[in-house]
Amino acid sequence: MGFVEGFSAEMVKFRCNGVDWAVDLSGRGTPIVFLHGFPFDRTMYSFVAPLLSDKCRVIVPDLPGFGESRFSSGEIPDQFRMEDYADGLASLLDELEEAKAVICGLSMGGYIAMQFFRRHPDRLLGLIFCDTRSTPDTEDAAERRKHLADSVYQTGTLPLAEQMVPNLCSPSTIANKADIVLYLREMILRQDPSGVAAAARGMAVRDDSTPYLSGISVPAIALGGNDDCISPPEVMSEMATSINGCESVTIPESGHLPPLENPRFFAATVRNFIDRLCVGN
Ligand code: MLT
Repeated sequence: MGFVEGFSAEMVKFRCNGVDWAVDLSGRGTPIVFLHGFPFDRTMYSFVAPLLSDKCRVIVPDLPGFGESRFSSGEIPDQFRMEDYADGLASLLDELEEAKAVICGLSMGGYIAMQFFRRHPDRLLGLIFCDTRSTPDTEDAAERRKHLADSVYQTGTLPLAEQMVPNLCSPSTIANKADIVLYLREMILRQDPSGVAAAARGMAVRDDSTPYLSGISVPAIALGGNDDCISPPEVMSEMATSINGCESVTIPESGHLPPLENPRFFAATVRNFIDRLCVGN
């Protein structure tokens, strides 16, 4: 399915900010953190890390409440805001002894990356926004999220997987990559409903990051799948125009999840960005 032979990331646990983080670490070089979206985990980037680890220290955490990252108290909060994830990430960078890093956030990971910029701008080398948006939820969308958060305890994540997978993937992924579709479905199914609910409530109350985009002073790039119907290419290019010097790249044969649907193109674009960053420094 595209795993690189001989490559393996080391999964390391860190306790900080009230969370036992599970983090995949591989490679050496420019530190880059990949933040997954909702309701996924760090395996979103399993096909990408091997393509970058020759030049980057690739850091891929499970966000708190997802995958194998647990709240240290054993209790998952009812609501976990994008600010909370961002502050946790700053503590995680301390644990990893990285003063600064490139942050790449996909969708919900992008909402967190925006908060990270707003709260910890001095910790950034660069920003990669992937299939995300700077605007908050509409009232209706926020209500739907709260409903989802209330119902996922009873239903588990099966209805989420059923509803979301067809909208997440491009038609070409659905038609030609049954193994990826299955991989994605299984990723959603194994998430803890309480972590999913906490994140959904956190996304529902996020504020508008648009006014802050013009203040981004590190190199930035906006990427998006050509067939993403959740954060369509127009949304990504509009975001890019609000950020000084930000390039917008559309990823072919991909919907909302380029790291899974077209990992080679995604990794090549990130690589290019890192090369330019290193030349610039
Ligand atoms: C994601 O992929 O993280 C979600 O589409 C974000 C959202 O529901 O707004």
